Amino acid sequence: MTDTALTVHQTSRPHGFPTADHFAFVESPLPRPTPGTALVEGLYWSVDPYHREMMDGDFALHAPLEGRTIGRVVESRDPALAEGDIVAHRQGWRTHAVVTPDEVRVLPRLDGVPLSAHLSILGGTGLTAYVGLTRIAELRAGQDLFVSAAAGGVGTATGRLARLMGAGRMVGSAGTAAKAAYLTEHVGYDEVFDYHTGPAADLLAKAAPDGIDVYVDNVGGEHLEAAISSLRERGRIVRVGTIAQYNATGAPYALRNLPDIVEKSLRMEGFLVRDHYALQEELYEFVVPHLRSGRVGLDETVVDGFDAIVDAFLGMLRGENRGKMIVRAGGGL
Ligand SMILES: NC(=O)c1ccc[n+]([C@@H]2O[C@H](COP(=O)([O-])OP(=O)(O)OC[C@H]3O[C@@H](n4cnc5c(N)ncnc54)[C@H](OP(=O)(O)O)[C@@H]3O)[C@@H](O)[C@H]2O)c1
Repeated sequence: MTDTALTVHQTSRPHGFPTADHFAFVESPLPRPTPGTALVEGLYWSVDPYHREMMDGDFALHAPLEGRTIGRVVESRDPALAEGDIVAHRQGWRTHAVVTPDEVRVLPRLDGVPLSAHLSILGGTGLTAYVGLTRIAELRAGQDLFVSAAAGGVGTATGRLARLMGAGRMVGSAGTAAKAAYLTEHVGYDEVFDYHTGPAADLLAKAAPDGIDVYVDNVGGEHLEAAISSLRERGRIVRVGTIAQYNATGAPYALRNLPDIVEKSLRMEGFLVRDHYALQEELYEFVVPHLRSGRVGLDETVVDGFDAIVDAFLGMLRGENRGKMIVRAGGGL
């Protein structure tokens, strides 16, 4: 085992799009577990849009950053954690972490399911999609759906899960024609438009001429306005995120059709996945059999090497990922 650890720190606040210069890799001696803790070596890291939001103030400068990570216990001084256990924890952006048993979840060994799935469809990403569809949208079989950022982690998981739930027509938006083709060929979407090719309202009206029942909103702004116009009476908007705004420097997009929410009796509701971790087992029960049978595939962009974590994060913000963006340690499982 190595005798040094690497940690990523944020070193300054970005205005607009961040660059690699806003981060530093910091080397330190390998931390050692004290009684009641264990040393975990990172295997897979998640880089997420919410990290960009945290860069504006929640991340302390010159301190290790948090994030979702999967690792292996390599040394334990607590009976609750055994060497070799595979755990999920939130001390991301570092090669090694010292954790207490309360800070980790020992992951179940699911034969035939790659570990990375615990950061994509079985992790916070998939749980976000599952909560959005089942608890917020209350999706029923046959109902028609529109999903923005459909080619990302939450967007692909939403497509896969909604198909299993018997959704009707599924329309998505994504940043390239290649992503659109992937979504219709592999994920179960019926039609996907590239939102760079015209106003979102026109593209959505063309792709869903008879309207939609549910909008899963990962983007906000113009996409949200378009969806409000296309929703049928008593339609639901699931507010998941606002990625169109995270790097923007101007005034937020002003919605012009808010009266439609009243006139069509629409319901708009946001949520945070961290308030719904109790549904984790329900998600496993719903998805794992389909992962094992091959009916559901994994949508992941896996980047190799902890050294690439900052580039992977910036690439995700630019749309370089298809499915969940994940960083894998060299020689990961
Ligand atoms: N509420 C919660 O608890 C919760 C939990 C997880 C995630 N989220 C939110 O869910 C959304 C998706 O997260 P994710 O982790 O699955 O990330 P992701 O979709 O895998 O990655 C971000 C994607 O956003 C798209 N994008 C970037 N800038 C955009 C813009 N200006 N307009 C439209 N699309 C843009 C890019 O794809 P394109 O090529 O298509 O542009 C990029 O691939 C984010 O808003 C995130 O904050 C919320």
